[in-house]
Formats: sequence, structure tokens, C-alpha cells
Amino acid sequence: MSTAQDGAGATTAPKHPGTEKFAGVEPVMNATDLVAGYLPGVNILNGCDLVCYPGELIGIIGPNGAGKSTLLKALFGQVKIHSGSVTLGGADITNLKANKLVEAGVGFVPQTNNVFPSLTIEENLQMGMFLRPKKFAERLEVIYDLFPVLADRRGQRAGSLSGGERQSVAMARALMMDPKVLLLDEPSAGLSPVRQDETFIRTRRINKAGVSVIMVEQNARRCLQICDRGYVLDQGRNAYSGTGRELADDPKVIELYLGTLAKDVDAS
Ligand SMILES: Nc1ncnc2c1ncn2[C@@H]1O[C@H](COP(=O)(O)OP(=O)(O)O)[C@@H](O)[C@H]1O
Ligand SMILES: [Mg+2]
Repeated sequence: MSTAQDGAGATTAPKHPGTEKFAGVEPVMNATDLVAGYLPGVNILNGCDLVCYPGELIGIIGPNGAGKSTLLKALFGQVKIHSGSVTLGGADITNLKANKLVEAGVGFVPQTNNVFPSLTIEENLQMGMFLRPKKFAERLEVIYDLFPVLADRRGQRAGSLSGGERQSVAMARALMMDPKVLLLDEPSAGLSPVRQDETFIRTRRINKAGVSVIMVEQNARRCLQICDRGYVLDQGRNAYSGTGRELADDPKVIELYLGTLAKDVDAS
């Protein structure tokens, strides 16, 4: 069941369909009624809601300019939240600065400019650990286990890597701090289909290893295939939400956001 939340029936519809099994569980992250924007008086988010329970992989899709990146930035203290709230494990983190959020257990991988090109892979990973240098060796081992390719190339400069490899470095760096929740902004953007697939598989693997993930994606169909639940954002508001499968099968979502080929692609 997906839910349109801008209609007259909005008050009775559940905000987060698909979360019934988490009744009584403290969400990892919970954003309520977010109104946020870059400039005073200009709101980009107009009342967004998003919840992520322990172990979930959450997908956020929607048209260009819908506010997906703005939502992630608001969760990561980079866009001013004018009203509404964000909690992490039940504690209020609304408008905390990014460094405080990293310390509290939020990892963020922006879409672009997410590695230090002149530093080696290992130096990039070290930058991810500036808050806990003593844990570096221990975390490095865990991360190289997840990303064996990075271990092989640890001395190579990040600037000389392909787009997909840079994306791995960026994700690995965020994971160095062992975050409770990882925010990913379009990890598959700009990659070839094969590399895109690798990115989705890796994201799922990281999630299965116990990290809750909130992922914005332009590859909506693929995103809905792998996420537990998804949110469709439109004009800074939740348009639909539900399990990945429900959204992928929802005729309205298909018509408005996935295109008519969605069914065929899904079946293949
Ligand atoms: N740094 C910024 N300053 C002012 N407006 C911005 C900035 N970044 C994005 N916006 C505006 O916010 C809206 C949503 O953008 P964004 O969150 O990037 O959308 P999406 O990620 O869904 O494509 C757009 O209208 C965009 O022009
Ligand atoms: Mg974006």
C-alpha cells in the first residue's frame, strides 16, 4: 500500500506504510515535518517525513529538483531546518553541525567532490577517522574486507581512480567511523550500467552487514528493487511511500515516476 499524502485523506493515512513490524522499536533516524531551505523565506522542503528503523535500507526517489539532496543535507546539518525535527536513536539532532553528527554516528557521502583527489586511498580513509585516530587500524581492516579492491590499491592517489572506484573510496571513508546510519546521495550517478549494479550490490552488502542506509537514487527502478522501503519526494513533500515492491508495482508511481517500461524491466 502506498500513500498519497497531499490529498484530503492525508490525515488518516499512515505516514510510513511498511513499518508496522517495527512497532515499539526506536528508529535509527526520524525526520518529522521538515521545512528547510538555503535562504531565509525560501523553503525547498515543505514538510518532509522520513523514518529509518535499525537495519533498513531506505530509498528516496523523485524527479530532478524535488529536494532529495536537500533532504539529505538537512539531515546532515548542511541546510538550515526552519521547522520540524530530526532524531538519531531518539536523541534530537535537529540543526546539529556536521562534525557533531559524524561523532554521533551519521555518515554522509555527497554525490560529487567526495574524495580528496591528491591523497592516496589510505590517506582518504584516514581523513574519515580524524575523530578517532586510535581506531584507525582496526576499522581499516573491516573496511578493506568490505572493499578488497581498495586494499590492493591503497597507495594509489584517489584522483587517478575511475568514477566507480572513487565512489567506493567515498563510501569506505564514511564507513570508517562505523556510523549508525549512512546517507548516500546518488551513489550510482554517472557510472556505467555494470558499475551501477556493483554499487547497488555493495550498498546492499554494507546494509546486510548491519549499517542502516538512506539512499537517494536517480535509478529509481533499481533502487526500489533493493530497498526495504522507499519514499517518493515531489516538490519538497512526500508523494508516496511504502515497501520497495509496493512502490515499484504502484500504477500511479509507475506512471508518474518510473515510466511505462518499469514492468518490463522488472520482469526481466
Ligand atoms: N545551494 C543551493 N542554494 C539555493 N538553492 C538550491 C541549492 N541547492 C539546490 N537548490 C534548489 O533546491 C531545489 C531542490 O534541489 P535538490 O535538493 O538538489 O533536488 P534533487 O536532489 O531532488 O534533484 C532546487 O530548486 C534547487 O535549485
Ligand atoms: Mg540531488
